[in-house]
Amino acid sequence: MAILRNPYRSVKASRTSEGTFYLGDCLDVFAELPAHSVDVMVTSPPYNMGIRYNTYQDTLSQADYLAWTSDWIAAAARVLKPEGSLFLNVGTRPSDPWTALDVAQAARPHLKLQNIIHWVKSIAIERASTGAAAGLARDLAVGHYKPINSERYVNDCHEFVFHFTPQGSTLLDRLALGVPYQDQSNVARWQSAGSGVRCRGNTWFIPYETIQRRDRDRPHPATFPSRLPEQCIRLHGLSNIDVVMDPFTGLGSTAVACARLGVNFIGADIDEQYLAEAADRMKAEGTPRVLPERVTRMKKATVSVPARVAARQASAS
Ligand SMILES: C[S@@+](CC[C@H](N)C(=O)[O-])C[C@H]1O[C@@H](n2cnc3c(N)ncnc32)[C@H](O)[C@@H]1O
Repeated sequence: MAILRNPYRSVKASRTSEGTFYLGDCLDVFAELPAHSVDVMVTSPPYNMGIRYNTYQDTLSQADYLAWTSDWIAAAARVLKPEGSLFLNVGTRPSDPWTALDVAQAARPHLKLQNIIHWVKSIAIERASTGAAAGLARDLAVGHYKPINSERYVNDCHEFVFHFTPQGSTLLDRLALGVPYQDQSNVARWQSAGSGVRCRGNTWFIPYETIQRRDRDRPHPATFPSRLPEQCIRLHGLSNIDVVMDPFTGLGSTAVACARLGVNFIGADIDEQYLAEAADRMKAEGTPRVLPERVTRMKKATVSVPARVAARQASAS
């Protein structure tokens, strides 16, 4: 119990939402957690695309990366409750579009793929295709993406969220993310539509918040907006949740979502500065907010990498 006995930080965001943050390799944290002890995981591992993190070297060989992916997903599957959910966010590089699908395949021996959700970061909608009821005055282009200068690839405005479960039979609270029917007049005719909302489906438009300066406002190269884990957790069903985990916590977007929703969180990261920010953000979420997504500037990392991660990275170089 070396890691579990020594959390890096514990945070009480509110009466019903506590966060426990572990500084270390998530494989070590998984190894110490009891089997079937976590309801929901919402996470985004490194994508092995050479992203420049503070500490982690995102440059394993493809074979090592997929072997490691299989290892951590097997460890996560052991810890997940039988009716639990693992929401696994993975993006791709236009020049290597298989990455996300390879990661999903690596999970196949361990968990069932119950849903595929498409996180849409940016979308263009023509006024003519929306109908008069939408009331658009002009065509719409919303959200942020990194433009690609290429004659071969289109701009990448989307990432996957694979919803894995132990049996493929986890019950969801589909209407927690309900979308109001456009025409309410006939709604009561359908029993499932009595609430006036329909299931949102598997395309979720969630733009990044606009930031002025990355180093000050979002000092991490690969975060997701907190609305993404928030929607995953609500879809799983808030009444079925004791604890949510993010084994790759980063700046704690999932921890922030837990604070907003009043549920407990446990997280791990190998980078002390990211983890410190994550704990601060979760704590701040429990008190009245001034600038919710804003975090303080970070110093350059001086932390060391856990032994197991260092060994993996050394064999990759
Ligand atoms: C894609 S980022 C996660 C970002 C997070 N979803 C957010 O919104 O802030 C991946 C994170 O995994 C961390 N990491 C890499 N290897 C790890 C390991 N073996 N155990 C725990 N964390 C690790 C990196 O430091 C990085 O912060």
